[in-house]
Amino acid sequence: MKEREVVIVSNRLPLSIKHDQGVAKARRSSGGLVTALLPILRDKGGVWIGNAGTHEDEHATELLQQEARNEGFACVPIYVTEQEDRNFYEGFSNQVLWPLFHDFIGECRFEPAYWEFYRKVNAKFADAVMSVYRGDQTLWVHDYQLMHVAAALRERGCKGRVAFFLHTPFPSYDVFAKLPWRRDLLLSLLQYDLIGLQTERDTRNLVSCLRRLVPEAVMTSTHTAHHVMFQGRRIVIQDFPISIDFEEFAQAAREPEVEERTRSIIARMGMGQMIFGVDRQDYTKGIPHRLRAYGALLRRRPDLVGRVRLVQIVVPSRQNIPGYEALKARIEHLVASINGEFTQPGWVPIHYIHRSIPREELLALYRAANVALVTPLKDGMNLVAKEFCATRIDDHGVLVLSEFAGAAAEMYRGALLVNPFDLEGVAGALEQALEMPLNQQQERMRKLRRFLKHANVHRWVNEFMQVIEHVNHHGSTRS
Ligand code: UDP
Ligand code: G6P
Repeated sequence: MKEREVVIVSNRLPLSIKHDQGVAKARRSSGGLVTALLPILRDKGGVWIGNAGTHEDEHATELLQQEARNEGFACVPIYVTEQEDRNFYEGFSNQVLWPLFHDFIGECRFEPAYWEFYRKVNAKFADAVMSVYRGDQTLWVHDYQLMHVAAALRERGCKGRVAFFLHTPFPSYDVFAKLPWRRDLLLSLLQYDLIGLQTERDTRNLVSCLRRLVPEAVMTSTHTAHHVMFQGRRIVIQDFPISIDFEEFAQAAREPEVEERTRSIIARMGMGQMIFGVDRQDYTKGIPHRLRAYGALLRRRPDLVGRVRLVQIVVPSRQNIPGYEALKARIEHLVASINGEFTQPGWVPIHYIHRSIPREELLALYRAANVALVTPLKDGMNLVAKEFCATRIDDHGVLVLSEFAGAAAEMYRGALLVNPFDLEGVAGALEQALEMPLNQQQERMRKLRRFLKHANVHRWVNEFMQVIEHVNHHGSTRS
């Protein structure tokens, strides 16, 4: 049987245009999703549809398509206008769905125009899909920005198999019910044939929202999936925890440049220990709570002053959105206040870096850290937690992980789980991590690495693709 081609649809293309000395060039981005999906696109053949990230421009389209061809796939760039970007991306995606799905109702702005533009821009993505659709490809749409694409595809007569994966959490009914367009959004989702979520908790939340808000849908469950019968179609809802390319991280961690940088960071720390945090500048990541927990640690353990430091990287993100700018000010105020309280000549408690860092530097920091402090208030998965472990080829280092990250459901045996809202609890876990004997660190880290070696992103893609293959184009499973 001929393999079905794949069409991937995501808000951002895995390619972007960079200007080098005034010359525009297209480059492939380095995210985990691209690494995972490229082999599939190369093997089966396929197209990636996503936002070009620039203004409409024929030259940009040519550059992006040429670079995609060099990488072994085809791409269709989408161009959104400034007004669409404000209402669809900054509006509905990032001031409605993102905060709502992460339980930040206070950050939500339920503007009717946002919803209108969300559907309009999702329809634009659907038009691009229809421009390459021949009736037999597998369509795989990604993330909260594009939940309405299948509905727009059905309006355009597409009867093919369309799958969706949500990279964020799906909230409980009590939170989701606050969305003014709650039933409409669920009806949009039910136009997919397969809905993949990060964890079992997310699938349970979606199923309970469907039970309350779409009571005419008939639901059954097996031990692996939930099935919804709706308007003569069967929709499968299943969890597929996303992961990383474990081997790629483990190998990159051994590269001479990373070894060299790791040694230099450790040498600069002297006898001291290092706690490491790296996050996008996002209120879901719990950075202020983390800084306060570290301050609480120094207050209750004055003997650690001068011996432990926190290196916190904050990568600028979504800077036009009000909540994100306010967060920067809050973080910087806390850094200044903790550094002001504890700094001594020759020692600063928090090394705060507000920019993205080169990959080798990130890997070296993972390797040099004694503790990775990953404390989101809520997170779909959190890849930083997994990358830290994959990089620890020495089996040392302790992961302190929020119980509200999707990763906690898989990594609870090796990590120290914390409630990020409990500052004293986090400070206590930090004490435990900093004092953990090496043999215990090894025992925990080996467990985590054994798990991740097996549950890597290639397995994630293969399992998802296998389930899509068993969903027929009317949305019913063959088994
Ligand atoms: N990362 C990055 N640039 C940096 C630092 C980190 O691209 O300067 C990457 C990091 O390696 C990880 C991703 O950003 O792959 C963050 O993913 P995560 O799932 O932890 O959170 P998200 O940002 O998707 O909410
Ligand atoms: C999260 C979302 C992605 C998003 C990324 C960066 O990982 O799940 O869909 O692309 O953050 O955010 P941005 O708004 O810059 O695309």
